[in-house]
Amino acid sequence: MRKIQLGNTGESIPIIGQGTWGIKSFKGRNYYENWKNSLRKGIELGMTHIDTAEFYGRGTSEKIVGEIISEYNRDELFITSKLFPMHLRYNSMKKAAYKSLKRLGIDHFDLYLIHWPLPLIKIKKQMQVLEDLVNEGKTRYIGVSNFSVKQFKEAQEYLKKATLITNQLLANVSQQKHIHNSLPYYVENDVILTAYSPLGHRGLNSLDVDLKNKLLKVAQNHNASVQQIAIAWLINHKNVMTIPKAYKIEHVESNAQASEIILSKEEIELLDIK
Ligand SMILES: NC(=O)c1ccc[n+]([C@@H]2O[C@H](COP(=O)([O-])OP(=O)(O)OC[C@H]3O[C@@H](n4cnc5c(N)ncnc54)[C@H](OP(=O)(O)O)[C@@H]3O)[C@@H](O)[C@H]2O)c1
Repeated sequence: MRKIQLGNTGESIPIIGQGTWGIKSFKGRNYYENWKNSLRKGIELGMTHIDTAEFYGRGTSEKIVGEIISEYNRDELFITSKLFPMHLRYNSMKKAAYKSLKRLGIDHFDLYLIHWPLPLIKIKKQMQVLEDLVNEGKTRYIGVSNFSVKQFKEAQEYLKKATLITNQLLANVSQQKHIHNSLPYYVENDVILTAYSPLGHRGLNSLDVDLKNKLLKVAQNHNASVQQIAIAWLINHKNVMTIPKAYKIEHVESNAQASEIILSKEEIELLDIK
């Protein structure tokens, strides 16, 4: 598994991690066992970055991820979670972070993000919470998600010592806005763009014909699937890592293999939508 350096932290993590948005509540035992097997397989293949959030399955995702974490050496895994922006006050935000840690069964996150900005909540207050969590040792790194470049810059300005290491954004081969418009800023400032929904949330099963044909052409060159090429297209951009979600083991395997695919400049440009 190829790794990516996290800004100027000196730390490198897998360029492809595992998303867990799909983990639902009130399902049967087999469902959760299947999910855990998929996560275990992903870890075995080097996808040791697991992305979760208090919002996913109303805590169920964090709970299942916690059960997986308990089977491993904590330091082998890189755990990201996110604060649901319905907590308006400093104390309720802090409490939500502690509850996430409890569900995950860990004493610190590796990365903790504000899930998305809300006009109701002052970015300054959210940054104070994140920085205090760093100072308390409750998270090693912090970042944001779904912030515009303007909001990202504003957020960074409120931090005294800590640095935002990522903005987690919607980016995939058919939704390229952030790759063309925001990524240049993040590259210049040593920030990672974490591409979420790298397979368009549904596995890219309803692609525009022109784009699908281009993907098929590149896929043929690499003896790969369209989805593997879609992931490769993202991580062949500087400062981009990603977190596909896969419940099916064969998808987990396929996603891990995508880290090895190196696209030519011409192939990347062929897939660019400008
Ligand atoms: N920060 C945010 O606001 C935000 C928003 C959305 C997502 N996220 C994060 O990003 C993660 C990924 O995004 P996502 O869950 O929206 O969807 P996604 O990863 O873009 O797509 C998941 C879909 O693709 C299928 N799939 C996975 N690997 C495949 C492969 N190799 N070949 C064919 N199909 C494949 C999955 O099927 P199976 O599951 O059946 O295997 C599932 O239907 C989330 O789980 C979450 O952790 C963050």
